[in-house]
Amino acid sequence: MKRVLITGGSKGLGLAVAGVLAASGYGVITVSRSITEGLRNLAERYPGRIEAHELDVCDYESYQDFFSRIRLFDGLHGFVANAATGYARILTLGGVPDIRNCVEVNLTSVIVMARHVVKGMMHGGGSIVFISSVAAKNGTVGLSVYAAAKAGLLGFSRAVAREYGSRGIRANCVIPGYMDTDMTKSIDEHGRERIRRRTALGRLGCAGDVADCVKYLISDDSRFVTGAEIVADGGFSC
Ligand SMILES: NC(=O)c1ccc[n+]([C@@H]2O[C@H](COP(=O)([O-])OP(=O)(O)OC[C@H]3O[C@@H](n4cnc5c(N)ncnc54)[C@H](OP(=O)(O)O)[C@@H]3O)[C@@H](O)[C@H]2O)c1
Repeated sequence: MKRVLITGGSKGLGLAVAGVLAASGYGVITVSRSITEGLRNLAERYPGRIEAHELDVCDYESYQDFFSRIRLFDGLHGFVANAATGYARILTLGGVPDIRNCVEVNLTSVIVMARHVVKGMMHGGGSIVFISSVAAKNGTVGLSVYAAAKAGLLGFSRAVAREYGSRGIRANCVIPGYMDTDMTKSIDEHGRERIRRRTALGRLGCAGDVADCVKYLISDDSRFVTGAEIVADGGFSC
């Protein structure tokens, strides 16, 4: 059974990705700070395919132990760097601790975890998917710090694709547009209407819309795709 590590698998997009991958026969390892009912239900639905770990992606001290435990099994085929924190504040209103936290969760922790993942894939290859954001492509008021972290993932992904392509490791980004998840629940109806009007397909995405793109990049159907970006935003940015 091919195994895929997903960060932020407790809800939203991460939970949807865990669901589509488990349904396709993958073994799924999730990390998040909490184990939700949604994740427990998924584990019941796919016995033996979901392994959920409570781990804060910024707790680097725990990585060594975590990765040596998961390497005891078969190693990893895939990694989906999905965990993230929202940050909506215009630049001059945010304090340094908030800025640090946003960059730490959304970029630095991804780089640190990818180091461990890549080491484990060095002999058998694998597929890595970084979840960026349409905010990295389009200027959006209030999202400058979040956008900087998410844009960092685009450059990181391309460089990883070049550095480790010869080892059979692929690295790609998925760029979601607005999805109906906890991260966007603070957007009021007026804001949602503006997003719908700007989106070619006329609606916000759901986590499942984007999860299928991630599944494609994890699977061998995308075996010649690396250093690429898939925009899954319903035409918000076209
Ligand atoms: N929703 C959107 O409109 C949208 C648009 C563009 C891009 N994205 C991107 O899509 C991805 C998924 O977003 P979403 O909407 O599904 O977000 P979400 O519903 O807020 O879920 C975020 C996930 O990240 C986990 N997480 C957050 N901080 C963590 C930490 N320090 N350690 C471990 N896990 C942590 C959360 O789990 P715990 O709270 O249990 O730790 C949760 O599982 C993110 O990368 C986001 O930036 C979202």
